[in-house]
Amino acid sequence: MKQDFLNYIQETFEFSPDEMQDFQAALSKPLKKTLRVNTNKISIEDFKTLATKQWWTLGETPLGKNMFYVDRENITFALGHSLEHIAGYFYVQELAASSSPFYMSGDSVDTWEYTILDMSASPGGKTTQLAEYYPNSTIIANEIDKWRMKQLHENLDRLWAANTYVTNYDGRFFWNFPEVFDKILLDAPCSWEWTAYKSWDALKYWNLKNIRRIAKLQFQLLENALQAVKVWWELVYSTCTLNRLENEEILNKLTDVYWDHFSIALLDRENNHPLVRAWPHKNNTGWFFVAKIVKTSSLPEKKKKEFKNNPQGFEKLSNTAEKTVTEFLIQNFDLTLPGKFYTYRNEIYYGEKNIDYFWENFFLFKAWIKIWKLESWVFEPNYFLWTNFRIFTKNNISIDEKNINSLLKWEEIDYKWIDWYYQIQHNSIPSGVVKLKNNTMKSLLENRFLRK
Ligand SMILES: C[S@@+](CC[C@H](N)C(=O)[O-])C[C@H]1O[C@@H](n2cnc3c(N)ncnc32)[C@H](O)[C@@H]1O
Repeated sequence: MKQDFLNYIQETFEFSPDEMQDFQAALSKPLKKTLRVNTNKISIEDFKTLATKQWWTLGETPLGKNMFYVDRENITFALGHSLEHIAGYFYVQELAASSSPFYMSGDSVDTWEYTILDMSASPGGKTTQLAEYYPNSTIIANEIDKWRMKQLHENLDRLWAANTYVTNYDGRFFWNFPEVFDKILLDAPCSWEWTAYKSWDALKYWNLKNIRRIAKLQFQLLENALQAVKVWWELVYSTCTLNRLENEEILNKLTDVYWDHFSIALLDRENNHPLVRAWPHKNNTGWFFVAKIVKTSSLPEKKKKEFKNNPQGFEKLSNTAEKTVTEFLIQNFDLTLPGKFYTYRNEIYYGEKNIDYFWENFFLFKAWIKIWKLESWVFEPNYFLWTNFRIFTKNNISIDEKNINSLLKWEEIDYKWIDWYYQIQHNSIPSGVVKLKNNTMKSLLENRFLRK
């Protein structure tokens, strides 16, 4: 119940009645809207220019060079339906929720080739952020829930996180892979306290019994992460909860069991405190908890868990099929891609990285970026092929504001030209693919992006 939650907060954090009032008042205000510019696709300067054209005002935030507050005039459609969003130029992300990759990286782009695990990754806000901070690393984005994995796939494709590979294991499976990763993010499944922002009713089921149950899983996941990270490398643990049971108590338990195998890094330098906790009434953000752990020695031997890995579903594209795709791209769009093509069922994926270890040891649900399908030897490219590369010099059509709006609503527009697929652009943004038939143009944008 809401009152149990408030009592817990007041007693645990020893808030005065005034502070308690501030805390409650902060929860009833809407959070300031924030977005993260996807620097894998556009520079911050270019994004600012586009934003100004749309009358969006961007304000700097304390958490990262590419995280901005955003205010918009003349709101006619949701941010998520803007062309800039569909083109993957930004991700709508709550400020505090962006803090774990921020603290992992120190907000600087590191071009070294690490192996990184995002242990509980959907919908991919932090995975795509890691792909920006570590553009040359190999990132495994793991998610237990197949239904939630769909959104992860979509975000990875849209933001062109081409160095990311999706697995579908219980995070406790990683016990079998001791000291494989340089960095691990465990943005743990938690008790959903944060949904109190949306409605107090969300706290209807808030009780310590439920929290203890989830805390047990969090500890097990953290223990597995400690096993899977390399000695002298680091793992970041975060939750979007305030209670101590899912945060400090998890770390206390880790200390009880593995006290001589790790240390906790100093994160909150301002307050000289190792742990970061974001409060709605102090930080003007959602609530969040972050800790950074450095492994200092190998964990004691413990029996590996039994598991049966399926044979890899992805295959390298056969030479003949690869020739079909390559020729299609050159002939139609003058596009030569330096990487390799892979297939899963009849879908085609494109990637530039070699991942032999993960290829052999993990069953991958997604690898690289989906660029569509090959059916009966005909290659049909998808929307992302057109938004993820430069503006093509061949078969490209420039579209004005009125028509782009219609196309994003799936309305057909009249256009006299030869029947075929075309890349379209608007304001120099590669804006997807259209099919022209009988002088009628229709966007092949997927349903979920439609501008309402
Ligand atoms: C807090 S959310 C992650 C949010 C994500 N990091 C982001 O920034 O978009 C936690 C995720 O953990 C997943 N999860 C729950 N139990 C898990 C387990 N045993 N192993 C791995 N993932 C798990 C949930 O399905 C959920 O998607």
